[in-house]
Amino acid sequence: MNPMINVDGLITPMADAVIPVMDRGFLYGDSVYEVFRTYKGVPVFMDDHFVRLENSAALISMTISQSREELIQEIRRTVKASGANSKEDIYVRYQITRGIGPVDLYPDPGLETRYVIIVSTLPSRKPEYYSRGMDMAVPSVRRNPENALDPNIKGGNYLNNILAITQARQLGADDCIILNREGFVTEAANSNVWFVINGQLTTPATGNLKGLTKKHIHRALKAAGISSQETDIHVNELYDATECFVTSATRDVMPCVSLRLEGGEVLQFPEGGGEITRQVQAVFLAYLDTYAAAHATDALV
Ligand SMILES: Cc1ncc(COP(=O)(O)O)c(C=O)c1O
Repeated sequence: MNPMINVDGLITPMADAVIPVMDRGFLYGDSVYEVFRTYKGVPVFMDDHFVRLENSAALISMTISQSREELIQEIRRTVKASGANSKEDIYVRYQITRGIGPVDLYPDPGLETRYVIIVSTLPSRKPEYYSRGMDMAVPSVRRNPENALDPNIKGGNYLNNILAITQARQLGADDCIILNREGFVTEAANSNVWFVINGQLTTPATGNLKGLTKKHIHRALKAAGISSQETDIHVNELYDATECFVTSATRDVMPCVSLRLEGGEVLQFPEGGGEITRQVQAVFLAYLDTYAAAHATDALV
């Protein structure tokens, strides 16, 4: 496939896509976005992604000028232009910016929003991230408090997460596990994080984006009779963790093999994921198969 970008209806190869510099998405990160991938040509959890996009927009008092139907239609046109076929899973990112306005922080409610749709191959990740697992580190950077910047605004400014993963990489890790100011675990740079603690599979209840992969993993596990929960997890509880993995639309279930705490101490987890991690991977894959079969008529290619 050839990666393609659609800016307000104009579809071009990536290198030719342009937006006006005065767009508030560029000037201020004043935008919201979603990323989904296809599985067997079917957009995974697309309805949920639209609900989350609309919620992000509501949280920043943005009225999206384009209807959901128009955006889906434009996503389809962009996928078609890319020449993708149902044999390869593709990446779809769609972003709504507040559009162009005067240089003024206050967003005039009358502004016309702009959309940008990116259709590409799935991000290439080192195979070792699955066969061995990622090395994680806790950076000193803390997650924005929810009453400063709600993590459920999936917006065009990721500096908090960028600072956190940059520090983790400087420490030699692959990704970060970000704490809040009280020392509770929130999430990884752009995925949700899960642990097995005292035999119980758990993921942080608050301070993170309500990941759609996490939501559907809970659902898949429940149907399979495996218990999972959401609790507040203090960093000190991680000494009792025996497994760790992250989840997101583009990673599915990715094991973590180590975690460097802030003081330099390193916790180890099983290579390639422990027993429960591998069980979650299998259950989620089967769930995706069932989902794709049930939503075959939504296929984009
Ligand atoms: C900060 C953050 N947390 C969690 C996630 C995982 O969400 P999802 O499973 O919907 O991809 C993402 C991915 O978009 C993210 O950016």
